[in-house]
Amino acid sequence: MEKLIVTGGRPLHGTVDIGGAKNAAVAIIPATLMADGPCVLENVPVISDVSILMDIMQEMGAEVHAMSSHSYVIDSRDIKNCEIQDENARRMRASYYYLGVGLSKFGKASVALPGGCDLGARPIDQHLKAFEALGAKTDVDQGIVYVDAGSGLKGAHIFFDIVSVGATINAMLAAVKAEGRTILENVAKEPHIVDVANFLNKMGADIRGAGTDVIKIRGVSSLKGAQYSIIPDQIEAGTFIAAAVATGGNVKVNNITPKHLETIISRMREVGAEILVDEDSLTVTRKSVLCATNVRTMPHPGFPTDMVPQFSVLLSMAEGTSIITEGIWSNRFRYADELRRMGASFTVDGKIAVISGVERLQAAPVMSTDLRAGAAMVIAGLCAQGTTEVSGVEYIDRGYEDFVGKLSRLGADVKRIQIPDPVSELAAIG
Ligand code: UD1
Repeated sequence: MEKLIVTGGRPLHGTVDIGGAKNAAVAIIPATLMADGPCVLENVPVISDVSILMDIMQEMGAEVHAMSSHSYVIDSRDIKNCEIQDENARRMRASYYYLGVGLSKFGKASVALPGGCDLGARPIDQHLKAFEALGAKTDVDQGIVYVDAGSGLKGAHIFFDIVSVGATINAMLAAVKAEGRTILENVAKEPHIVDVANFLNKMGADIRGAGTDVIKIRGVSSLKGAQYSIIPDQIEAGTFIAAAVATGGNVKVNNITPKHLETIISRMREVGAEILVDEDSLTVTRKSVLCATNVRTMPHPGFPTDMVPQFSVLLSMAEGTSIITEGIWSNRFRYADELRRMGASFTVDGKIAVISGVERLQAAPVMSTDLRAGAAMVIAGLCAQGTTEVSGVEYIDRGYEDFVGKLSRLGADVKRIQIPDPVSELAAIG
């Protein structure tokens, strides 16, 4: 087991390079299976969710060759079916993309029901609705989801009842080779939806409209291997912007797509950041004392739910009272107790949090309750008086590449330490 030891009080200074987008990578890696030849992926983030997916690909029979730390050749031609029922599948939410991929490539798939961060109920009814509309039979038995296209998938007109990132991508994956035309309405518009569509189009798919409310797909008979570079991670960029503002530092954030960060940048300016945007980088400093604000999370281009914990740390130290209304997940505020332990005034009622800013946070032992909450605890530790211990590092590793290294190079006092596992300690004594 490991912990992060964070000593507060040092403003961040310097330059940080943002890696490839986790939520694009976790869809694009499974999608390589649909190609009739090898794919080359570049700008792949070094995070544990990617390692799990690469393990799944290899266990299925793919040849995965790392060309460098961030680029891979994946040759899936030897994969013969898409049955993923082991623990790896349950370790991450995105394993559900193998349902759409398997339907498209083999006409059927079975995947152990996905896990991921506990952010509240995470149903997949909209994924199954799309598969069924395309003509597949679906079944869930003992925690395994089965999908079967029978004599083949047929294009359909699908209107999603709610806007879902995962269901939009899964429907695209299943429909690219379905016979005829598919129209997906009320779809998610996140940058990674566009990235997955661009990758599929590079493989020979015919997808239009990704990034708008309506996606139109003409089925193609086959997909070829492609070389593709994954977009920068807007949430990782947002996290470093938040860390720079929170500590009152001055940081250049490199390798970003400013368009994907518009909402985050505008809300950061509102709470006191000065942000100068360049072509593929930005520079962020703190212009004034932190000011309270109200924010509501929404699907893209709204304020992203995955930035709520990091933004809460800023609001915890802002002058005045802020209200966050969470529009996506019922369990987003699980970290509230942890921030309270650090002295924040943070009241939660269902999907609404009321935060009254305090002058300074105090160090405390805290836990990462999920991926983004883990990053937020580290940011809080960077601002707090004293030394904060953050446990649950494995959550942070799921989605942040070299978080400790990147923060340290910006001058943060953060260390990763091994803590003895109580069971093996006892065994050693015995
Ligand atoms: C993705 C992101 C996650 C982010 C979330 C919202 C990945 C791997 N993860 O998660 O980081 O927080 O988008 O931006 O990309 N829902 C249903 N039925 C469904 C599917 C979803 O009711 O079939 C609900 C969910 O419970 C949630 C909302 O729809 O309330 C949005 O979920 P969705 O966009 O699907 O999130 P994920 O794709 O799981």
